[in-house]
Amino acid sequence: MSENWTFVCAIGELLPGEMKTTWDETTSVPIVVFNHDGAYYALEDRCSHEDFELSAGGYDAEAASIECVLHGARFDIRDGRALCAPAYTGVPKFPVKLEHGAVWTRDDRD
Ligand code: FES
Repeated sequence: MSENWTFVCAIGELLPGEMKTTWDETTSVPIVVFNHDGAYYALEDRCSHEDFELSAGGYDAEAASIECVLHGARFDIRDGRALCAPAYTGVPKFPVKLEHGAVWTRDDRD
């Protein structure tokens, strides 16, 4: 678990419908952060099917989902739950905060 927040980007660099990637500065876990119509969400940037980068796929802002490019699994970006095969388990969701004009996240798992 990381007590430290990791800088993602300035708020103005993550517009609605966009995503940005980072690594937790303590655990080195890859994280993808979404601006979904002004609400911010962060997920582990790793498909639960075969450990592929989710951020390589397409973020569908209409459906609030991201599709893994490798085999087409989709996940809800708001809570990480799997929406279709071949993924049956979700991906971890992480907290996001806005502070000092920037977007921050961290791997908060025990
Ligand atoms: S690795 Fe993502 S769907 Fe297979």
